[in-house]
Order: sequence, then structure tokens, then C-alpha cells
Amino acid sequence: AGERFRINALAIGCNDAQTAGYGITKIKVFVTGTDPVNFVYGDESYTLQTDASSVTINANNSVGAIRALETLTQLVKPISVLPSHIRTDVNGCASAAAVGLGPGFIIPSGPWNITDYPSYSWRGVLLDTGRNYIPIKSILRTLDGMSATKLNVLHWHIVDATSFPIVSETYPDLSKAAYSPLSIYSYADVQAIVYYATERGIRVIPEFDTPAHTNELAVSAELAPFVLCPNGGANKTNSYWPTCAEPPCGNINIADPAAASAISELINEYTQMFPDSVFHLGGDEIETFCLNTSPEFTDIAFGKGTPVPQIGTDIWTAGLAKVYQSYINTLLQTTSAAGKQTMHWEDIVLKDGVLLPNNTIIQVWNSWDNIASKNSLQKTLALDRYQIVDSNSDYYYLDGGSGEWLTDLGFGTGGNSWKENYWTPYKAWQRAYTHDPRTSPIDNTTDTTGTGYSTIDNVVQFPAGNLQSIIGGEVAVWTEKIGYPSLDVKLWPRAAAMGEALWSADAFPDAGAKDFFEALPRLKVLSDRLLSRGLSVETLQPAWCNTEQCSTEFSGYSGNLSFGNSKPTYW
Ligand SMILES: *[C@@H]1O[C@H](CO)[C@@H](O)[C@H](O)[C@H]1NC(C)=O
Ligand SMILES: *[C@@H]1O[C@H](CO)[C@@H](O)[C@H](O)[C@H]1NC(C)=O
Ligand SMILES: *[C@@H]1O[C@H](CO)[C@@H](O)[C@H](O)[C@H]1NC(C)=O
Ligand SMILES: *[C@@H]1O[C@H](CO)[C@@H](O)[C@H](O)[C@H]1NC(C)=O
Ligand SMILES: *[C@@H]1O[C@H](CO)[C@@H](O)[C@H](O)[C@H]1NC(C)=O
Ligand SMILES: *[C@@H]1O[C@H](CO)[C@@H](O)[C@H](O)[C@H]1NC(C)=O
Repeated sequence: AGERFRINALAIGCNDAQTAGYGITKIKVFVTGTDPVNFVYGDESYTLQTDASSVTINANNSVGAIRALETLTQLVKPISVLPSHIRTDVNGCASAAAVGLGPGFIIPSGPWNITDYPSYSWRGVLLDTGRNYIPIKSILRTLDGMSATKLNVLHWHIVDATSFPIVSETYPDLSKAAYSPLSIYSYADVQAIVYYATERGIRVIPEFDTPAHTNELAVSAELAPFVLCPNGGANKTNSYWPTCAEPPCGNINIADPAAASAISELINEYTQMFPDSVFHLGGDEIETFCLNTSPEFTDIAFGKGTPVPQIGTDIWTAGLAKVYQSYINTLLQTTSAAGKQTMHWEDIVLKDGVLLPNNTIIQVWNSWDNIASKNSLQKTLALDRYQIVDSNSDYYYLDGGSGEWLTDLGFGTGGNSWKENYWTPYKAWQRAYTHDPRTSPIDNTTDTTGTGYSTIDNVVQFPAGNLQSIIGGEVAVWTEKIGYPSLDVKLWPRAAAMGEALWSADAFPDAGAKDFFEALPRLKVLSDRLLSRGLSVETLQPAWCNTEQCSTEFSGYSGNLSFGNSKPTYW
């Protein structure tokens, strides 16, 4: 981490170079406690003090020291004055190291005395490598960005109905469902990614989603018999949706005990492959129509010879819950034997009526739902037994805003969500920045634009229950329309906005009132730092704003901004 600090500090744009300030000659790091065996679970708190010539970092655990060194990169500047021809040539001046600046840092303001800790312990990025393959290099670069922004969980949504880009020793023919022989993560690749993440204090949580989203499993001869409605069914009219595109088709026949055993063997392989104590079993978007095509399912769920009740009725859902419970219990035996805690999408407990062990992690993604005044987060809170990770699609889904991708408007009985922008309009950084999973108002459940709050007698409603069970949030990069060339700009700097909101939530009791005009210049500086580490970012403003007033003068903000009401000098 010390070596990374040195490199990253030197990589800061040379336009930032300073001659005056505190010349730092020594950085002292004290880790006073004993790290947990897997040190990524350590205490992330730290203190950081500076004086005229040194920096002192204190942390209970190594991971706290790692966070402190990231903070330090945000305080320091390279030490030299640059030749004028370099100063004016920004492109030719990406790194101070590149123009021969020796090691040496100045802290332009201070002395600092910082006490810091995260408000939320789970600050994640969901990366989908199933819809489009993401090369390892891009994943490592994403981890660099996460490290810079103190994000600590990579939720790796590895596979989906569209492809299976990871090796399996249990069912080797699953690799046929990769997009190409070059688009398969090997055991060594996974190890490299986990190692790289661990070095940066980042957990890697793998997701293997069943029983829905499993069309791809049908390429395996052994698993094929358990996949209902692969490829849309016999006439491509047989799945929940009449195409396989979205939500994707294929649903494991959860009524077949042999299916649960076969999937368990696969899960067992991957619990060994990934060291983290949490394993994500998916569980979103059960294909109800598809399950009904299995006589085995309808017999067990509703009784042989009994007319199959209407999908969506209480009696149908109770039948589903019974069958699904038995399927998931088999998987839970496997994960539990491997010492794993599981994580699931909210659907399994809210829609499908399955009961999971207390303290299981439930990831909520639906901001709105059809039960008045309650969004999914609130409904999960009300169950009062689970931990919650917030991935509210109205705030944290970063993949939207680039238009529809299913082009045949004639397709689709279930809705047009993937052909319209309402599902995934672009979410500006300000949305993530002002969202706090524990304290933000509850969305209006009938307002699918996600802009209205739920009210009772005109009083805005807030989450109620054990708010401490909400352990954090995740931005999600679903990759239907994202590949490695556009990954960075979709993620950055918006993921950083969530990063700060979750890390510093305690400092902002009213997240909705946070000041964009105070945050924007800081986000711009952070974007430059990400650029200097080799990431791409979405541009936040015209460069004109680097030297002219853009935000503060027109904001109508009359308070005392942290950089003063005059032109910021450090953009
Ligand atoms: C270390 O642990 C102690 C005791 O739990 C706590 O008070 C302190 O805030 C932690 N962090 C640091 C940086 O000392
Ligand atoms: C730094 O802040 C801590 C906590 O507020 C305080 O106890 C300590 O005395 C301060 N140290 C210095 C050098 O100001
Ligand atoms: C597929 O379509 C053909 C021709 O319309 C029909 O005879 C057959 O029953 C269909 N099969 C299924 C499984 O729907
Ligand atoms: C699980 O949580 C529920 C709801 O809070 C509680 O009633 C039950 O006693 C808990 N079970 C265990 C085994 O702790
Ligand atoms: C939600 O929004 C709808 C449409 O704007 C409105 O009619 C309804 O009263 C709102 N409901 C709540 C609970 O705020
Ligand atoms: C604004 O903040 C600065 C720095 O904290 C302080 O010196 C100044 O007095 C403040 N001005 C007003 C008008 O509050």
C-alpha cells in the first residue's frame, strides 16, 4: 500500500505541482491491533495527523491504514515547479513521475488532524460479466478506482442467462456457453482478481444466480434436463417473456430434487474458488409461467390432479414458496457446509415467500412496488430478520440512459421495460450522492419515474425499523449495453459519489440537503486523480469552468462554502 501511495501520489497531474506548503519527509504508519485472518474484514477506521515534515497514521487494522493512505493521496501534491512548456501541455503532462519529478510531496494546507471511519461497512460495485464479457484488465482497473474511492465490495455477477464465462470442473461443458474460448475466466484469473482486490482491502462476492436467469446452463448435458424454457421454449414462445432477451429465459425446475443437487455441486465448486465468507445465490425474477409448464412443479405445489391456480394468487404463491423453500434449503446446506453466509435478491423473500436464516443478506433493487407506501427496502426492513444492502434502481443502477436495445417493438407480452427509457433513465451523480439507504425518503410506490416520495397526509415517509440492519449499498453496472470500452465512464465518477455518501453518511444527517456546489469541485479533482491512475471518467463540466465561475456564482447559495465564495483555485 505504501508503494501504491508513492506511485499514485506521483501520478497526480503536474499542473497540480506546488512549491509552498508542508514538505513531507516521513510517513509513519502504526497498526496497533491484530488483523482478522482475512484482513479485508478489518476495522477501516484511522487517524491521520500531519505536521511540518511528517504524516502519522494510526489504525487498529491494516485495512484502516490502507484507507488512510488513500486519504493522504488526496492531501498531497508533487513538490516541484514544472517547466512552462509542460505546464501548458496538459496531455503531455499526465504524470509528474513521467517528467522526472523525484519523490517528494507537499501538503499545501494543514496541519491536518483527521479522524475517519465509514458509516456503512458495505460499499460495493456490482459488475455483470454475463451480458457482455469484461476482460480481466478492466476488472483490475475497476478495482483501482474502487481503491481510490474507498469502495470495498466487488459484487461479481459472473454469469447470466446469456453467457457462462467461467470454467467449471464440475460441468466442463458449461464453457460452451461462454461468448468465445477467450472469454472464460480460469481458476488462475479468479485468483489473480481476488488477490488484487484483497491487497486493496476489497472483498470479492461472487454471484451465481438461480433458479431464474439460467438459460445458459442448458448447454451442459448434465444440467440441460433441469432447465425449463431454455431458449424461449420449443417454439420460442414458451418462456415468461416470448423472447430470451430480457428478463432472460431459463428457469431451473425447482421441483426436481435432482436439480437442487446438481446445482449444489456447481455452487460447491465456486464456494471453494472464492474465499470470501459471503456467497450470492441470486434469486431474482422467478419465471412463474415457465414453472407452470412442469407437471412435477404443479403436482408438488398444488397437489396432483388439482387445477393449477392462477399465477399471482395467494394460493399459487404459497405453492411456489413450498417448492422453492425446499430447493433453496438444499443450496443453503451446501453453502453452510462451506462456511458461507448467503446473499440473495429481495424477490425471494418479498415475492416468493421463502424464509431464509436470520441475518442473511438481502439485496433490494426495486425502488417501487405495488403495495401502497412501501418500497422493497421498507418491506424487507419490516421482516425484521435480515441484513440489507441497498441497490435501489432509481439511485444506483448506472447502466441506463443509453436507449432501448430490444428493437422489435412487436415482441413482449410482459411489458416493454427493456425497450423504453423509463426503466433505466440516466442517473446523474447527484442522485447517488444525495441518497442515504437508512435515512432517505421512501419512493412513491405508484410513481415509476422514481422522482416522487411516498406521503401520508402530505408527510413524507422514511424507512422505519432497525436501520442498522441496512449495512450499505451497491451501484450496479449491468452490461447489456456496456462493454470494456465504456465501462469506466459508466462507473466513474458516479460510483465515487455513492462511495462518499456511504462512507460519510454520519456527517450528513439530511442527505437530501447536501450541497452539489460544494461537492462538484471535489468530484472534479477526484476525477482527475482517477484519470491519473489510468481510468476514464465522464466529464462533469466544460473546461471553461476550470477558470471561470460555473457553480458557485449561479447556485443561489449564500452560505459559507468550504472553498469560500470566491473562485476555487485548485480545480
Ligand atoms: C480502534 O478501536 C477503538 C476501540 O474499538 C476505537 O475506539 C477506535 O476508534 C478505533 N480506531 C482507531 C483509528 O483507533
Ligand atoms: C486531533 O484530534 C483528536 C480528536 O479530536 C484530539 O484528541 C487530538 O488531541 C488532536 N491532535 C492534535 C495534534 O491536534
Ligand atoms: C409449436 O408450434 C406448432 C405449430 O404451430 C404446434 O403444433 C406445437 O404444438 C407447438 N409446440 C409447443 C411446445 O408449443
Ligand atoms: C429470527 O428473527 C425473528 C424475527 O426477528 C425472531 O422472531 C426469531 O426468534 C429469530 N430466530 C433466531 C433463531 O434467532
Ligand atoms: C404517488 O404518486 C401518484 C402519482 O403522482 C399520486 O397520485 C399518489 O397520491 C402518490 N402516492 C403517495 C403515497 O404519495
Ligand atoms: C467562512 O469560513 C471561513 C473559514 O472557515 C471563516 O474564516 C469565515 O469567517 C467564514 N465566513 C463567514 C461569513 O461565516
